[in-house]
Amino acid sequence: MCGIVGYIGTQEAYPILIKGLHRLEYRGYDSAGIALINGKGTLSVYKEKGKVSALEASVAESDTSGTIGIAHTRWATHGEPNATNAHPHYSQSKNLALVHNGIIENYKSLRTMLEKNGITFCSDTDTEVLVQLVEYMQHSHNCDLFTAVQLALKNVIGAYAIAIIEKTHPDRLVCARKGSPLIIGVGKSDNGRAEFYLGSDATPIVEYTKQVIYLNDEEIASMDRSGKLEITNLSNVKQTPQLVTLQLDLDQLEKGGFPHFMLKEIWEQPNALRTCIRGRLNVVEKDVLLSGIIDHKEKFLNCKRIIICACGTSWHSALIGKYFIEEACQLPVEVEYASEFRYRNPVIHPDDVVIAVSQSGETADTLAAIQLAKEHGAFLYGICNVIGSSIARATDSGTYLHVGPEIGVASTKAFTGQVITLCLLGLAIAKEKKTLSDEMFHMLVDELQQIPDKMQWTLENNKHIDQFAQMFTYCKNFIYLGRGYNYPVALEGALKLKEISYIHAEGYPAAEMKHGPIALVDEEMPVVVIAPKRGMYDKVVSNIQEIKSRKGKIISVVTKGDSVVRGMSDYSFVIPDTRDCYVPLLAVIPLQLLSYYVAVAKGRNVDQPRNLAKSVTVE
Ligand code: G6P
Repeated sequence: MCGIVGYIGTQEAYPILIKGLHRLEYRGYDSAGIALINGKGTLSVYKEKGKVSALEASVAESDTSGTIGIAHTRWATHGEPNATNAHPHYSQSKNLALVHNGIIENYKSLRTMLEKNGITFCSDTDTEVLVQLVEYMQHSHNCDLFTAVQLALKNVIGAYAIAIIEKTHPDRLVCARKGSPLIIGVGKSDNGRAEFYLGSDATPIVEYTKQVIYLNDEEIASMDRSGKLEITNLSNVKQTPQLVTLQLDLDQLEKGGFPHFMLKEIWEQPNALRTCIRGRLNVVEKDVLLSGIIDHKEKFLNCKRIIICACGTSWHSALIGKYFIEEACQLPVEVEYASEFRYRNPVIHPDDVVIAVSQSGETADTLAAIQLAKEHGAFLYGICNVIGSSIARATDSGTYLHVGPEIGVASTKAFTGQVITLCLLGLAIAKEKKTLSDEMFHMLVDELQQIPDKMQWTLENNKHIDQFAQMFTYCKNFIYLGRGYNYPVALEGALKLKEISYIHAEGYPAAEMKHGPIALVDEEMPVVVIAPKRGMYDKVVSNIQEIKSRKGKIISVVTKGDSVVRGMSDYSFVIPDTRDCYVPLLAVIPLQLLSYYVAVAKGRNVDQPRNLAKSVTVE
């Protein structure tokens, strides 16, 4: 949530910052802003409501020269999304400019204190308190910017990633983090000296350098134009930076000929999942190799239960993971909304394994949930996509999805990546616990290997969805139904539609429908039913009858060759046959495509739906 970019070196900063903002726009797009110090020592701040393109247009005639700058794209938390509340914020003397990601919880008391000391505020934001506080510390302690930031942050309660520049010292960029991610990229200027890039994630940096440093919580860094980098903690104890090489390629951040990132990411799923299982699933030896499990085998063998914490789409994949692990490993699994778990005094035992599932690895509630579990001595396991993310680093062990960067705000390939990773994890534990017969284990391994090809088939055979999506643009509501493994798919299908088309949709366990939602069904109501020819097929057929007799419109996801449900449906999407537990990996694809094409037909901004952000780093 909110994206930060920064640069100091010998190149013009503006093009680097703007490009970086475009790459980070998925984190928020309520407003955007930029601060630059030009060669004459003028500190200029430009900001605009709305997207980065609006900022670009508004500065077209302005002086955007300078080799140091910071920039920000905002997802509003405090104060409405207008130009005044947009970042960067000046200090009172306009000597400092600061951008911030996070929430300052004690901003009211800090603001009152600063106002009593004669400081006047221009915005309603918690961020302005930070920049005013830093300047206040500079003046009251007669110290330099770096020390002032240290002193200021000692008084701050909350989460932050900040970057700050100073008009009177244009050769230094200072940044700090606690609870919100910040990465420093170390490049080389023409003169051979280091130049520094800053990003909320690696996407604005990778084009220039692959050498990065992940700042840790409560660390402050000073980047000097001469190439000097200094990192301390809040108590001024020097920290040794660890240079890491990014595993990210630029073309992964482009649309590659697709009109939207979301469509690209939907189509990427077969290959993304092949990468995800590569080296982990061995069909020849009939084995599953997850080093995160192998290295901590005892923890999984001895634990009495697993708790999975997640939010949003990741919560849906966690639910599928629960069904799979309970079935395969005979181990109780609880799935928790991280935001609830962290505040309700849950019972956590030292012999619990707590798994965090998070695409970004930065979701504030999920991070806080595992921090709570850590305090209770539980073993922490992370399932994240973003390498080096906060959750990946805070957990004892884990597995990366390796599905590549996901940029569309609506999660697609990360969802299927999470499901398949949870299946691998379940199989790996089942192997250690010997809870599956060899025959069943081998069969599940073989079938999992087939899934990427079956996904490809599903994509190729559901291209026609674009042709009839138009028919649903008038709808105000949708119901999604599924049973067993497909209940979470119904939840996910409904979420996708809500997120990007703004049509209200509810996911329900199919049999629960008669306890309420069936009252909503009439000839206007499309009901999407996931009805594979497996497990509870006959029961789902009965559920479809109940809807039909109330004149609801049936859109079904059916197994190839099934003419019964097809015959009962107004529209059908076909998927290949697979084991019950793997059906979600295929059934979700037509639902992703349906929501995508309905949203496109409604003229929505698919990749950047209103009010949403991809990485929710505030609670
Ligand atoms: C946001 C995103 C969702 C995502 C959720 C959890 O709401 O828009 O797509 O599922 O956060 O994010 P995470 O990165 O933890 O999976």
